[in-house]
Amino acid sequence: MRKKMVAGNWKMNKTVADAVELAAGVAGQVQAGTGVDVVICPPFTALKPVADVLAGSAVALGAQNMHWAEQGAYTGEIAPAMLREVGCAYVILGHSERRALFGATNETVNRKAKAAFGAGLTPIVCVGETLEQREAGRTEAVVRDHVVNSLAELGAQLANVIIAYEPVWAIGTGKTATPEQAQDVHAFVRGLVAGMADEKTAAAVRILYGGSVKPDNAKDLFSRPDIDGGLIGGASLKADSFVAIVNAAR
Ligand code: PGA
Repeated sequence: MRKKMVAGNWKMNKTVADAVELAAGVAGQVQAGTGVDVVICPPFTALKPVADVLAGSAVALGAQNMHWAEQGAYTGEIAPAMLREVGCAYVILGHSERRALFGATNETVNRKAKAAFGAGLTPIVCVGETLEQREAGRTEAVVRDHVVNSLAELGAQLANVIIAYEPVWAIGTGKTATPEQAQDVHAFVRGLVAGMADEKTAAAVRILYGGSVKPDNAKDLFSRPDIDGGLIGGASLKADSFVAIVNAAR
């Protein structure tokens, strides 16, 4: 049985003061032993203060991006060990906003995924098609390209990757994929993983859905056989809505 996961992607929101308040609100309402892995991913500046708030709680910490190198002349970048040092267990890689606006490619995402495991971080790797690609009937081709190339050469670690299927047309738009649409792509992704490794790996890998997940649609999405939880943007910015989504995954 795969354990469900609900991860909050705060994007470029929350000052340190606001982040600490939100993290405390989430941690105060999420009990241990609920059978759901809960992760929050604040901006870099708030990671350490939020880690202090989460210490001893049932909520884990993740970052939203990182560089693949251990250190060096990469102005403005953050290294994997720096994230570990401040208490991160996860890192989001290849989010569609990074792919569309900041030049992330399958190749750089793949380098980062390998570096994440090397540093003891679990990568949450995002894949998904745009509206134009979906309407052109290219959803499977795009998702295959993202999965096969972003997750290449991970060896046994492939089973431990968290894949987030996020159709770009559903992110921040209020247009959620229907549970059937999402399930179809999730099953396709799991099949790709089986082809890259084996059935056992495919059965183990967790695939989250992301894109306008809200308290009122989460349960229906999370009840589908290949949907193992969610990556939540807008609805993760308030403790009550995020915790309601966590509860929908139980
Ligand atoms: P959303 O964002 O929930 O606001 O649609 C999801 C994401 O981009 O991870």
